Amino acid sequence: MKTENEYLDKAFSAFPKKIIVVSPDFTVLTARGISIGNKNLDIVGKRCYEVFFGLTEPCKNCPTRQVLETGKPALRHGDYASRSSQDLPCLFSYPIFSGNEIEALAIMDYDLLDLDILEGRLHRTNEFLRNLILSSVDAVIASDMKGNIIVFNDAAAQITGYTVDETIGKIDIRTLYSRDGANEVMTRLRSDEYGGKGKLKSCQIEILNNNGESIPIKLHAAIVYEDEKEAATVGFFHDMREDIRIKKELENAQMQLLQSEKMASLGKLAAGVAHQLNNPLGGITLFTNLILEDYELEPDVRDDLNRILKDAQRCRDTVKELLEFSRQTHHLMQPQNINTALSRTLFLLQNQTLFHNIEITRNLSPTLPPANADIQQINHMFMNIILNAAQAMKGKGRLTVNTWLSQRENLSQSEKRVVVEISDTGPGIPDDILKNIFEPFFTTKEQGEGTGLGLSMVYGIVENHGGSVKAENLPERGVKFTIELPLADDKDGGDESGKQA
Ligand SMILES: Nc1ncnc2c1ncn2[C@@H]1O[C@H](COP(=O)(O)OP(=O)(O)O)[C@@H](O)[C@H]1O
Ligand SMILES: [Mg+2]
Repeated sequence: MKTENEYLDKAFSAFPKKIIVVSPDFTVLTARGISIGNKNLDIVGKRCYEVFFGLTEPCKNCPTRQVLETGKPALRHGDYASRSSQDLPCLFSYPIFSGNEIEALAIMDYDLLDLDILEGRLHRTNEFLRNLILSSVDAVIASDMKGNIIVFNDAAAQITGYTVDETIGKIDIRTLYSRDGANEVMTRLRSDEYGGKGKLKSCQIEILNNNGESIPIKLHAAIVYEDEKEAATVGFFHDMREDIRIKKELENAQMQLLQSEKMASLGKLAAGVAHQLNNPLGGITLFTNLILEDYELEPDVRDDLNRILKDAQRCRDTVKELLEFSRQTHHLMQPQNINTALSRTLFLLQNQTLFHNIEITRNLSPTLPPANADIQQINHMFMNIILNAAQAMKGKGRLTVNTWLSQRENLSQSEKRVVVEISDTGPGIPDDILKNIFEPFFTTKEQGEGTGLGLSMVYGIVENHGGSVKAENLPERGVKFTIELPLADDKDGGDESGKQA
């Protein structure tokens, strides 16, 4: 108890203000900080008006008189600003009650109410600044010049994975930077070149989270000076991951747009060429046939004409494929089981020599709902993709076909898709040509081996069905083609059981 009071006493003495406490008859009970000239006055037990002013009764404008009348704190009237004696505390008077009675009065040179208000304001300002820092969307981290973290807000915790308690006063700021990042930032902060001395504007860095993963950050930082000495550094860390993701998505969308525009104009071109060739080819075939039928011909001539017919037929096949790509062919859409189409194509192909050393793995969903499809076109599409795979594997490897119903959440019936994946264990497709493989006449095969029309036909057929097709390289090796086709609309329900293992 005694030490508590002693502390209170000391604290009070340390307070650089004047105060006297008087009894209701103006006898000084105690005093602090009172001196007149250089002398510390011994005033306890004496009347204040006597020792201070040599008067025989309390001063006229003494606020204590008013307090004794009203029981409320009072301010000295009149010469507030030009006090006659600068050394005296007689400015404000406050009653000290014992029960209902005024027991004593504290007379001082400062306003307790003002202090309260100031303190309240200070508190609110502090609280506001604290909230400002805490609620910042960007991470705010400050450290003293030794590197001890002194401010670490919730956003900082979110980005780094450390909790606020784990960091403040416990972690060195340098552990948050990758490699020599912290020193680099300090060097830049102290240089003039990055937004002025003591400032660092918008620099791209990487920081490390609590798992040691690096996170791309845009950093604004500053040195906090106190009396021109470096006292702390504060950094605003903006997590760039979301920005980077959005930028990438935008770029992808733009690429896709360009790609589909290119494919559309290629489609028009192909359709134009095909139509132009169709009639003359018809003429060549017709008239060659007429000659063969109408004339007695030497066997050599007959052979040549047959050769013409055969080549014309090859041209017509090409034209047909071009028309398929440009979606100019007529087709018969019906609800079809895609598993059946796939199995039939595989059955036809697996007896070919090219497939003898190819192991075929099938994971076909037994509950796949039908898709709206032209079965001939669909067979054609599978045939092309699977043949390419077998050719890429040079007849040796594994072909895997999967089918399932897309199970992304909250899909409406019209958004559901039959998904077919066809993957091989071939060499894959070089990244720089991946974007070209669906173009007509794009081939990497020797002349005579490939026409470059297979995948463009696949593309046209899938588009025709309102679906999509993409190719990607697998991490191990090989390529995976993914085809998505809309469901037949007259069927309900469908496969809810997901992908089959
Ligand atoms: N499964 C695959 N593995 C590796 N490359 C492939 C595969 N499928 C297609 N390609 C590449 O795509 C090109 C275009 O294929 P396609 O349009 O069928 O024409 P073609 O087979 O006549 O070359 C091929 O030349 C090949 O380079
Ligand atoms: Mg091909």
